[in-house]
Amino acid sequence: MYADPVTFPAELLTLLRGGPKLVALTGAGVSQESGLRTFRDAQAGLWAQYKPEDLASPEAFRRDPKLVWDWYAWRREAVKGVRPNPGHYALAEIEKRIPEFTLITQNVDGLHRMAGNLNVLELHGNIQRVRCADCHTFAETWDDDGESVPRCRECGGLLRPDVVWFGEALPRAQLEAAVEAARACQVFFSIGTSGVVQPAASLAFAAHNRGALIVEINAEPTPLTSKADYVFHGKSGEILPELVKAVWP
Ligand code: OAD
Repeated sequence: MYADPVTFPAELLTLLRGGPKLVALTGAGVSQESGLRTFRDAQAGLWAQYKPEDLASPEAFRRDPKLVWDWYAWRREAVKGVRPNPGHYALAEIEKRIPEFTLITQNVDGLHRMAGNLNVLELHGNIQRVRCADCHTFAETWDDDGESVPRCRECGGLLRPDVVWFGEALPRAQLEAAVEAARACQVFFSIGTSGVVQPAASLAFAAHNRGALIVEINAEPTPLTSKADYVFHGKSGEILPELVKAVWP
């Protein structure tokens, strides 16, 4: 069912007021209004000649670690100074109102925690963290001479961002918790994600198969749209705060 973003169906509002077990899965669209490019947007400037898919992989790092390190340094810089937007804050408000709320994000920007969400499962890691590609030790600081990829202080291995690359497994505990929450929830929100990257994309379908009500908020239709019970097309930074106001006036 399609609905005008500002007129939410009464049955949805009533359901949410009842405090159902709720899961929200977010993607890059949620951070778009904070000024971050979505994953499938064109790259800017120097990076315009590369596809993100060709840089975010173990093969790319093996082939040219400096290129991959520099790309992440550029993205890390873009995230610095970026603030959560009203969509992030609305999700933090929902967490306060709904006793069993799980936020599952594919975003690596850390903005959900910054907005105040506590129960966050980061499926694809966090761009601010760095770890050794060999011994997996995390590093909070590193020496970057700008010439070569910084090295691990423990074993001398190359440092890499603590994000999930194409072809890599997701962090097991986070994925298991996400699958469990999706299977157990009564309402599943899919927000600002193109829904084409697995296994995150399958979470909505797992919830749907277990009878959960599916709500999609996205600027455009996605592969999930035809399965959703309610679809709100528009900006999550506008729709989510409106929804919170409508549910808890
Ligand atoms: P995408 O860039 O694939 O999709 C962004 C989605 O957000 C699209 O469906 C847009 O229509 C929608 N969108 C854009 N602006 C919006 C707004 N203001 N409000 C609501 N929706 C908006 O990003 P993801 O789906 O997050 O993984 O991509 C998933 C994963 O693909 C990423 O986490 C990344 C990549 O592979 C890894 O790097 C492992």
